[in-house]
Amino acid sequence: MAEALILNGVAMAAEIKGLVAERAAAFAAAAKRQPGLAVVLAGENPASQVYVRSKLKLARELGFHSVERRPPADIVKDALLALIASLNADEAIDGILVQLPLPAHIGAEEAIAAIAPEKDVDGFHVVNAGRLFIGKPAFVPCTPLGCLRLIKSAQPKLTGLNAVVVGRSNIVGKPMAHLLLAEDCTVTLAHSKTKDLAAVVSGADILVAAVGRPGMIPGAWIKPGAIVIDVGINRVPGLEGKSKLVGDVDFETARHVAGSITPVPGGVGPMTVAYLMANTCRAAFLRHGLPWQDGI
Ligand SMILES: NC(=O)c1ccc[n+]([C@@H]2O[C@H](COP(=O)([O-])OP(=O)(O)OC[C@H]3O[C@@H](n4cnc5c(N)ncnc54)[C@H](OP(=O)(O)O)[C@@H]3O)[C@@H](O)[C@H]2O)c1
Repeated sequence: MAEALILNGVAMAAEIKGLVAERAAAFAAAAKRQPGLAVVLAGENPASQVYVRSKLKLARELGFHSVERRPPADIVKDALLALIASLNADEAIDGILVQLPLPAHIGAEEAIAAIAPEKDVDGFHVVNAGRLFIGKPAFVPCTPLGCLRLIKSAQPKLTGLNAVVVGRSNIVGKPMAHLLLAEDCTVTLAHSKTKDLAAVVSGADILVAAVGRPGMIPGAWIKPGAIVIDVGINRVPGLEGKSKLVGDVDFETARHVAGSITPVPGGVGPMTVAYLMANTCRAAFLRHGLPWQDGI
């Protein structure tokens, strides 16, 4: 049976990080300071702590100035907004990331709205979402940016292809659909109320699954030769009482049908953090009035 090309997100992310490090050095030479990333982590969520630590470590490795702000879980909303305002005003900071989820008493929307759009390197601010919607340059969420790069590594020209995105979250599904639309794909955005998802998926030349349900898309649904991007990260029981990570696509059946496919782990995940660094570097260039060349 034919085997899909495995889209190696680890290798591709390494390439992107290398390019970002080069640009960070060029920025430092021109601006006489490093690109600056600030990460705000409110509270002690263990998974968030791991994510934040790895983002800050990578930022340092790529030659960024990085700062961590760790307010307690019971910080009042106005104090968190004031903290974000101080980072907006800090000339050494180009990108601000507020790690989600926030403590339950603080709405994520309000915190994100407080970030200056030109420092919104997660691309979650409504100004950036709106700019993406109307086809203007924007900070685009990092996961869909990584997905698009993986897709283009398999097929550089996407014009006219049928793309199906399963999942319509603001951070993955919707921006992904807009990126594919901007590439002149014919885009279908599916979700939990979609009728006959199997039929919808079977028409996809490009399939992006961003749901959060382990193995919900079997190989039998996939169009032969399709590009399959699996965003899902699901922890399921593994061997010997251990757990393992799987995606939303049933990899073992899909790999015999798809033309190319991302593994989980090692596909989309590493690309997300690489693009956070790319977005931060880009923010530094733009804030400093330096030209930013596409191609990362
Ligand atoms: N690799 C990475 O870097 C990365 C980054 C972000 C997220 N993720 C992973 O990607 C997955 C999705 O994340 P998210 O934040 O986008 O999730 P989310 O906000 O929970 O959204 C899930 C989406 O899936 C849809 N859905 C749920 N059940 C469905 C079904 N049976 N059929 C079709 N659609 C269904 C939902 O539809 P409704 O809108 O109708 O409810 C919703 O739009 C998660 O596993 C997450 O861990 C990975």
